[in-house]
Amino acid sequence: MESYILVTGGAGYIGSHMTLALQAAGERPLVIDDLSTGRRDAIPDGVPLFQGSVGDAAFVGHIMDRYPIAAIVHFAASIVVPDSVAQPLDYYRNNTANARTLLDCAVKRGVPHVVFSSTAAVYGEPDRTPIAEDQPTQPINPYGRSKLMVEWMLGDVAHAHPFTYAALRYFNVAGADPEGRTGQSTPNATHLIKIAVQAALGKRDGLDVFGTDYPTADGSCIRDYVHVSDLVAAHLDALRYLRAGHPSITCNIGYATGYSVLEVIEVVKRVSGVDFPVRIKGRRAGDPAALVASNARARTALGWTPRYDDLETIVRHALAWEKRL
Ligand code: UFG
Repeated sequence: MESYILVTGGAGYIGSHMTLALQAAGERPLVIDDLSTGRRDAIPDGVPLFQGSVGDAAFVGHIMDRYPIAAIVHFAASIVVPDSVAQPLDYYRNNTANARTLLDCAVKRGVPHVVFSSTAAVYGEPDRTPIAEDQPTQPINPYGRSKLMVEWMLGDVAHAHPFTYAALRYFNVAGADPEGRTGQSTPNATHLIKIAVQAALGKRDGLDVFGTDYPTADGSCIRDYVHVSDLVAAHLDALRYLRAGHPSITCNIGYATGYSVLEVIEVVKRVSGVDFPVRIKGRRAGDPAALVASNARARTALGWTPRYDDLETIVRHALAWEKRL
């Protein structure tokens, strides 16, 4: 019988790119999404969508009983760090408890593999950059803790059952599908490149820079911006790796190159040709000064080869998508 790749959160920003990439790779994706932030129209034709929560065991179990699942790619989660500080229990339910339910359903039905969306937030404020996967995990906000707990669960499940996983620790995901089929659609997004392209297009009144007193060259925070299509390619590599019988793995997904907030703003201004207003503000709670990935493991073990590791390209694609919204 045909088997499916279950994509949770498949109607969201990253999930919608994943669904397209799976189709292009000849796989059969199947989406579970509660449509709280995702959009039905982000799901390509022919892909089954089940609207509901991955924390609903009866719902998930029913789907898994109807569709044989070869692997799960688990994106469905809440992602806004300041919200996690204000409403931690929502994050522990949505990100941690719901993942437990999904894993329980998966283990009971013998689903052999999970690719999990983890985050650079598990490192907290790292002692050194680029960050390698074996550096200490000491998250500084509930968001990071809610994801790290899932990594721990995955490790324990893989120890106890015939099951392997790949935990991919994303750095700063940005950009949009190079062919313009999908992108980041959340109107009230909080991420820097999304906000900057909205400012360039006059959709918001400029941009606030949260802190220029960090111990970095220009005082603003440094991040490793990774193109969403390269991120999704890493998931395909991880699926291939797990299906080939390799052991569970945890990998950073980033380019090992950092840009400051002020540098990102300059690139957005240059690419868009618009000089939007920029206001220097105080620090935002929970922001580490610099997060840059070592990606040696993803390259070596998964065979991941980025194609869009260029900030101008990321910004160009983000801008092109924003214009279509
Ligand atoms: N920033 C601004 N102005 C804005 C928005 C962001 O100055 O309007 C700054 C932030 O303070 C930060 C940088 O731009 O220094 C990047 O911020 P984002 O909100 O784009 O992304 P984060 O680095 O906060 O978040 C990312 C991931 C999270 C992850 C976190 C780890 O999106 O999932 O890294 O710290 F948890």
